[in-house]
Amino acid sequence: MGAVSLAVVIMAAGKGTRLKSQRPKVLHEIGGKPLLTHVIAAAARIVAPADIFLVVGHQAERVEAAVAHMGVKFVLQAEQLGTGHAIQCAQGAIASYDDVLVLSGDVPLLRPETIELLRSFHRSEDAAMTILTAVPANPHGYGRVVRKGLESAEVEAIVEQKALAPGQEAWAEINTGIYGFRASALLNHLNELSNANHQGEYYLTDLARILSGAGERVVAVEALDAGEVLGANTIPELVALDAALRAQTAQRLMLHGVTIFRSETCVIDADVEVGPDTVIEPYVQLLGGTQIGSNCLIRSSTVIENSRLADNVLVRQSCVITDSVIETGAKIGPFAHLRPGSEIGEEAHVGNFVETKKAKLGKGAKANHLTYLGDAVVGAGSNIGAGVITCNYDGVNKHTTVIGEGAFVGSDSTLVAPISIGDGAYIGAGSCITREVPADALAVGRSRQVTKEGWAAARRTRQKREC
Ligand code: UD1
Ligand code: CA
Repeated sequence: MGAVSLAVVIMAAGKGTRLKSQRPKVLHEIGGKPLLTHVIAAAARIVAPADIFLVVGHQAERVEAAVAHMGVKFVLQAEQLGTGHAIQCAQGAIASYDDVLVLSGDVPLLRPETIELLRSFHRSEDAAMTILTAVPANPHGYGRVVRKGLESAEVEAIVEQKALAPGQEAWAEINTGIYGFRASALLNHLNELSNANHQGEYYLTDLARILSGAGERVVAVEALDAGEVLGANTIPELVALDAALRAQTAQRLMLHGVTIFRSETCVIDADVEVGPDTVIEPYVQLLGGTQIGSNCLIRSSTVIENSRLADNVLVRQSCVITDSVIETGAKIGPFAHLRPGSEIGEEAHVGNFVETKKAKLGKGAKANHLTYLGDAVVGAGSNIGAGVITCNYDGVNKHTTVIGEGAFVGSDSTLVAPISIGDGAYIGAGSCITREVPADALAVGRSRQVTKEGWAAARRTRQKREC
């Protein structure tokens, strides 16, 4: 027997009425990524992206744009007349393949291993249609699979929830919406579907009865884990799948040596990576493509998004870190805000109520209290005093502040950009610096202090006499 060519069709054209949302269902997110990208990623472990066909319809352009980077092909279902109709729209695309796997864009936790199980069962049974089934705790809402006998692999029909007769509600084995088909059998019978049912839709599920009735072999195989094949049709279902995925992610990290205290309170996106011996405290959020090295401590209530932290970094409580890089041994927070483009060097300190944006701090540089550093470069070993502000914005343009190595900027100074301060220079506290300060110079930009001896005592005496 020659190699069997395989296409994957993912149904993703539906609106998702039950979500009550403006956003198409398959673009709702779990683990920080759209439902559909999880399904495509699993399928792409089985076949090449060029053999994956996505049926799009409702807000098709938006759905296509969201997954354009994944290299799959698109099939348009201009009007959404049901899952059977979705596959009818894909007929041309699948005609040249031997087998077709059909997946649902709203069943996101499906693992490649389970798709493989379906595929190998389908081949070994030499079936026209193979249905992946499950027995979840609560089957309500799903189509039910009716086998020819209790122990039989063969299926007679799938009955949709709305078509269940009284007493059939208890039927436990559900249709997961994931199938294998022999392409020829599928294409020969696809046009026999009718929409004479509760929804007035062309149900793909009716093919079980049609193929079985035509003497074709229709079989079912049960997924090992029912939790993996649940759909996201409502917000509560979506949130439950999100929690399940995040629990899996936390488990994966912990088994790689990361300690996550009270992991159920943390929000960790699916693609986040963390090195061993790092400790994550409760209520931390690690989002997007965040990567954290080994032996770091991320304290409570910190939110880190799309950022890279090297090893031995300490992030104290309640920091917000976005699109930034933090090098080895740096100490951040508490209550620091690192905005996009911040690069914090080795052993550098960014303390409480410090905000950085497009700011690069060299090795061992310190900005420990109440400071704003925007569009700035701070050289290695420089010290930025409490309350220092880079005035980077003139109302129209942004300008740069460059501070050399080993400089000292006294507390409560304002640095009006564009400006540069040389290596080893010293700025007196409370200065407003508007002109370049050369290396090793002292700059003081403040009015001189006036002291009047005895003035306060004289004022008190005067006030007493008046009342
Ligand atoms: C479907 C199955 C049900 C099964 C369940 C498993 C049918 C008729 N019922 O029900 O037996 O238990 O999945 O999750 O198939 N879609 C399109 N075009 C359409 C309609 C839907 O592409 O015209 C897509 C949707 O975007 C979705 C998928 O097909 O990704 C499933 O559609 P949905 O409406 O969610 O079907 P269920 O009611 O969940
Ligand atoms: Ca569904």
